[in-house]
Amino acid sequence: MSADPTYALELIDIQCTFRAKDDASQRYTAVADTTLRIREGEFVSVVGPTGCGKSTLLNVGAGLLQPSSGTVKVFGQPLDGINTRAGYMFQTEALMPWRSARDNVMVGLQYRGVSDADAAAQAEEWLARVGLSGFGDRYPHQLSGGMRKRAALAQTLVLDPDIILMDEPFSALDVQTRQLMENEVLELWSRKKKAVLFITHDLDEAIAMSDRVVVLSAGPATHPIGEFAIDLARPRDVAEVRTHPRFVELHTQIWNVLRDEVLKGYAQQLKKAA
Ligand SMILES: Nc1ncnc2c1ncn2[C@@H]1O[C@H](COP(=O)(O)OP(=O)(O)OP(=O)(O)O)[C@@H](O)[C@H]1O
Ligand SMILES: [Mg+2]
Repeated sequence: MSADPTYALELIDIQCTFRAKDDASQRYTAVADTTLRIREGEFVSVVGPTGCGKSTLLNVGAGLLQPSSGTVKVFGQPLDGINTRAGYMFQTEALMPWRSARDNVMVGLQYRGVSDADAAAQAEEWLARVGLSGFGDRYPHQLSGGMRKRAALAQTLVLDPDIILMDEPFSALDVQTRQLMENEVLELWSRKKKAVLFITHDLDEAIAMSDRVVVLSAGPATHPIGEFAIDLARPRDVAEVRTHPRFVELHTQIWNVLRDEVLKGYAQQLKKAA
């Protein structure tokens, strides 16, 4: 197999098996037989039922979790340790509550050795780009949920990563704020065209944002069961594109694959809870 640098990120034959906390002899294979490749500049969404293994896959791509087997390549090179070419936006709140919005955006640059003055200037620029000019002195608890997500977005993008990994970044937001943020992400992405791996369980969001949607099966041993090219014209407005006949057609096709997996995933959760 040749190294292909036109792929920003490759997850090849990935398997992730976890040991149970209370009984080390019990194992749970969350992900198996999963190959996922993202080209430079491509926006790929992964959808799948809750608990199927989406965050696990993203953690593998970020180099935060070593797979039990399989290979991760970044621009053609095998990944060893943390993926330093990637920026990561977590599913949960990731701002440090004891730092102001500006200090939160600066922190990654400071780790990289950028001077405080430069870091502050770049942070200010990014705060403005995500609509937070004048909010740099506020602490996370003084910002709304949407503003905190904007700050987290600035925190990720200020580092100018070649690969952007996003794990359900807007799922906690109300619908209107969410659509605004989705459009903002698309606008920012269209300027620099980085590779994006976007995790969501919202099929509308996946179609509206992406070049390609990958559907994962319910766990255990989750793996891709469908892949769809989204041939809707850009630039897109995520709210308007939903009324497009092609959007509706794609939604029907993908939902046909996803529906049974969602039902399986839901049934499993109920069983776990019982
Ligand atoms: N460190 C771990 N140890 C044991 N089990 C784990 C670990 N991480 C994840 N799992 C299990 O692997 C499965 C997949 O988890 P993961 O968080 O990747 O799902 P997800 O698709 O992101 O779910 P959600 O949509 O709810 O965020 C789950 O059953 C989870 O309990
Ligand atoms: Mg998750």
